[in-house]
This record gives sequence, C-alpha cells and structure tokens, in this order.
Amino acid sequence: MNKNIAVITGDGIGPEIVSQALNVLKAVGAKYNHTFNFTELLMGGCAIDKVGVPLPEETVETCLKSDGVLLGAIGGPKWDNLPGEMRPEAGLLALRSQMGLYANIRPAVLFETLKNACPLREDIADKGIDLIIVRELTGGIYFGARGRKQVADVGESAFDTESYNELEIRRIAEVAFEIALLRQKKLVSIDKANVLESSRLWRETVHRTAKNYPQVEVSDMLVDNAAMQLVREPSQFDVMLAGNMFGDILSDEAAMLTGSIGMLASASLGDTKRGLYEPIHGSAPTIAGKNTANPIATILSAAMMLKYSFGMSAECAAIEKAVDITLKKGIRTVDIKDDKTVEVVGTKRMGELICENL
Ligand code: IPM
Ligand code: MG
Repeated sequence: MNKNIAVITGDGIGPEIVSQALNVLKAVGAKYNHTFNFTELLMGGCAIDKVGVPLPEETVETCLKSDGVLLGAIGGPKWDNLPGEMRPEAGLLALRSQMGLYANIRPAVLFETLKNACPLREDIADKGIDLIIVRELTGGIYFGARGRKQVADVGESAFDTESYNELEIRRIAEVAFEIALLRQKKLVSIDKANVLESSRLWRETVHRTAKNYPQVEVSDMLVDNAAMQLVREPSQFDVMLAGNMFGDILSDEAAMLTGSIGMLASASLGDTKRGLYEPIHGSAPTIAGKNTANPIATILSAAMMLKYSFGMSAECAAIEKAVDITLKKGIRTVDIKDDKTVEVVGTKRMGELICENL
C-alpha cells in the first residue's frame, strides 16, 4: 500500500522522538512492502517562530489530504506569555477541531515488563491496569465562549463556558460503547452531574445511547470520585468515557499510574479513517535536544495509525512486539530505568534497537 502521512514534529523533544518513529515506519514499510510518504508540516511554537501563527493554513490543508497525521509534541516556556489564541496549544486545538477529530482514545496500560514503575502499592499494582479513556475532544469548555471583562469593584473578571449538545455526547458515547464491545464490556461514564447542567445532559444522553448496547455494563461516576478510584483501585476500569476537560485531567493521572507516560500513545479520530496520532506526554522542553527522551510513545502512536487508519493490524502488532522484545532485553531510556535495567540508552539508540528487533 501507498500512504501519505502528514508529520508534525513540533517543539521540544518533538523532532527527536518523531524522527525515531519515522525510522520505525520506514522499517515496517520495507518489511511489509508499503510505501509511506512523509510530508513535514509546521504547527505550534516552531510555526509561531517561522510564520507567525501556531497553525498555518497549509498545515490544515495537507493534513486533510493525508491518510493520517503523526504528531510529536508542541509548546514550551518560550511561548507561554503569548495571548491565548496565539499560543502553540491553540494550534493543536484548532487542528483537532478543523479535522473533526472528536474522539480521543487514550489507553493506559501497566506493561508487564515495567510493573515496578507503577507508583501505587504493590498489592494494587499486582491487579494490573488496562484501561482506555475515551475523551471528547472538540467540545466542552475547551471550545465554549470565553473572555474577560472589567467589573466594577472587583477588577477584571474572566470566564470559560462548558457546553455540550446531544449530538456531541451521543457520537462520543457511541465510540466508547463500540470500544467497550471489543474489550471487557464495562463502561464508566464520568461527569459532575451533582453540580453541572451540562453533565446532567451528558448522563441522560449516555444512558439513552446505552439502550443500543445492551451487552455493555454502563455506570456513572462523578469526576472527583473517579480521580480517587483511579489511585484506589485502577483495575476496576475498562473503558472510561469523559468530556474534554475531565478526560484531559484523568488521562494524565491514569498515565502516571502506569509509571510510563513516555510509553503511552493516543489516537484522535472523527467520522473518517483519517486520524491524528500523538504521544500522551508533552514537549518536555528541559530535556529537548539531549537525546534522552523516550521515543516509545511516539513509535506506538505510529503503530496505532497503521492499525486504525490504514487497517494494517499485523504491521501494528509487529511494532508492538519489537518494543516488547527491546524492553524484555532490559533496554531502557532513563525515564523507565529500574533495577532490572541492563542498559540505559538514548532516544536514537532506542529507536535503532526497536528497528533491529522488528
Ligand atoms: C493533551 C494536552 C492538550 C490538551 C494541551 C496541550 C492543549 O494537555 O493533549 O492532553 O489539553 O488537550
Ligand atoms: Mg493533557
């Protein structure tokens, strides 16, 4: 097959980790007879520096014509003081929205080889963690009206608006139910329905959607409780469905529980096969350019693209296996180093070894 991949390396460690993922894609392409054409595009801080905006129009156009988008990470302290709509993050939000990617799939898995990386008590970690957070990505408070105004006597006032409609809730719920059907068939829907009206509509709509999925066991959980249950007993979760902001927060928490935020991939999908694939971690500016960042989350994101956007399941599995073999040999980047580590390697060497083990 011949596939066009839009590549956004981004800021901080983005370029170094993406470069390793591209090497792995090339190696898989050679092995399975596929041609992957890469087009590098600007977004985030580097785009602000080069062309003055976080998301150039050309980037959106090329992404929309591609078969899949691979993203490293964006942002950094250099751009932290720019106004909201000019920040690197605004570029990412606009790209998600313009590509219609409303479903963000974030698996959090405690890998057998990295079990002692879990920061939880051993008896809790022993029960394992294997959950998927399905996060709504193009609505909610991220995209609601916001602004500032001067208010007499109290000074400046700022507001952001959380708003969801039935269509937005139903389509993300359907994605979560479909994923649950392929797993343990247990779905927990997260909200704050004891306080927020948008959460009450969320809850009602999820339950209406649930009628079409009688095989799936569905329950509701308030977001504060969910944050607590994740550290108390993460093994209880299979699929967690959440709105944009709750999903953002819980997915960082869940990632940390696996001790391996440098290992976790994510996919953002919409109504077509074209998706955006990116590691869950950020641009880690403090270690940028030092050849120490863990490229595995980006490599696994590329693997997810092969499976979800290109239907290449065997190729995806081959990458996952190569990663597993490399870890089983005791090879680690510094972030996942443990007492069983045989050799600590840098970003490039990790990428090379994964290619060799393919
Ligand atoms: C994420 C990130 C982004 C988000 C930021 C960079 C805008 O935290 O993908 O989780 O909040 O969605
Ligand atoms: Mg986040």
